[in-house]
Amino acid sequence: MVVGELTEDVDLLVVGGGPGGYVAAIRAAQLGRQVVLIERGAVGGVCLNVGCIPSKALIQTADDLFQLQKGVRRGIAVSAASVNLSEFQAFKAGVVARLTGGVRQLLNHYGVRVMEAEARFLDPHQVRAVGEFETVKVRFRHAIVATGSRPRPLDLLPIDGRVVCGSTELLALSRIPAHLVVVGAGYIGLELGTAFRKLGSAVTVLEARSQILPGYDPALVRLVARRLEELGVEVRLNAELTSATVGAESAEIHVTGPRGSATLTADAVLVSVGRIPNTDDLDLSRAQIRLGPNQRVEVDEALRTSNPDVAAIGDIVPGPMLAHKASYQGRVAAESLSGLPSAFDATAVPAVIFTDPEIATVGMTESEARAAGYDPVTGRFPYAANGRAMTLGAEGGEAVVVADRASGQVLGIHVLGAHASDLVGEAALAVEMGATLEDLALTMHAHPTLAETLMEAAEAALGRPIHVVLRSSG
Ligand code: NAI
Repeated sequence: MVVGELTEDVDLLVVGGGPGGYVAAIRAAQLGRQVVLIERGAVGGVCLNVGCIPSKALIQTADDLFQLQKGVRRGIAVSAASVNLSEFQAFKAGVVARLTGGVRQLLNHYGVRVMEAEARFLDPHQVRAVGEFETVKVRFRHAIVATGSRPRPLDLLPIDGRVVCGSTELLALSRIPAHLVVVGAGYIGLELGTAFRKLGSAVTVLEARSQILPGYDPALVRLVARRLEELGVEVRLNAELTSATVGAESAEIHVTGPRGSATLTADAVLVSVGRIPNTDDLDLSRAQIRLGPNQRVEVDEALRTSNPDVAAIGDIVPGPMLAHKASYQGRVAAESLSGLPSAFDATAVPAVIFTDPEIATVGMTESEARAAGYDPVTGRFPYAANGRAMTLGAEGGEAVVVADRASGQVLGIHVLGAHASDLVGEAALAVEMGATLEDLALTMHAHPTLAETLMEAAEAALGRPIHVVLRSSG
């Protein structure tokens, strides 16, 4: 019941408690600001509660099962391995609870007050926060908007949470679907489609465009496409959904494409056709905050919006919708609104796709470097020539280093292969620090590790690789 409307004065208000908002709140508190964080759902946002973390738990579990099953080649004998999805859900819930509990403790420690409510702007320095029991007007000196994104809906297949799922609902299943149809071969569709295939589902992926992971370098995508085929995932490219009938336990999906028309019967459907920013229910215009293309908030280098007392970060501003970008921007926004000379430099935003094998990239590809006016030199090193990759049974993959030919400055690093997600840290450091090929090549890398592929790719770019023969020199 609404008891009344109080007005509070707040020094720095953060709207949204995901990896962008909670980091901004902590950083601002470290700088001596009095911070209130308004969150309508759970602290930790999509990433910790229903996105990055739960999906990685599922992907790891599915891959462990798969590795056991294929481990026969290495002498592992397993009579019957299986995954109990209900028990997995309990494990996943424990991981999420530990992480979100940790974030709450940190916020507490820094004196950040968390308000469970939904905020909408009333004017350039005020929001109305509607909670379950009370509505409060919050007058702020500065604010950081970090409201994130939600799945883009598909008119033909509205999410019902039983048969038609978004990633949130699919990750909460406690049964393994017999046939999962995935609509959209982007990050989410491929990560979860691969995981459910490894858990035993038949999986069909429908993609409107002519390649999986559209926009990604086809050379990086090729091995993922091949692995999907080996796993028995059916991928239909240039696919158009013409109609769908959804029942209580299954759905019939009609699809047309170059391979003709088909009717697919699925007991679970994942709709993963992109995400849209949560900028439409904030009354941003009342706060004089301007939107740019695709409903994203326009910001300057310091992440200030057209209202100079309000910053915006994460999925609601231009750039990739990635948790680590949001967190980074959270720090920048907290600092810039607190008078520090902080700015967002987007040259090295790493991106990881947890497919099989993983794809991890940072900086420019060779064609992007050329388009930017560089004369690029590229070095490659295959996982097949790396001892650690062989011991993992993961020879499929390569590390690619792109550099400016004249100066040797590393412009981009792209890794396709097992644990690429762990190698991208060094890659991001190299790009961010403007390291040269020599820096990478002369840094002693521990043996035997996958990270040696980065050193060897740099050596290949310098024309002196030890463990591969360059085609031009052969
Ligand atoms: P996405 O934009 O990556 O992919 C959507 C795909 O759906 C595209 O390939 C598009 O061509 C296709 N599509 C659109 N409409 C379609 C239709 N009607 N029929 C068939 N295909 C259709 O979006 P996704 O996978 O939903 O992920 C959203 C975002 O979340 C990503 O951009 C990423 O930034 C973030 N994310 C990041 C992860 C990570 O860092 N590992 C994991 C998951 C998501």
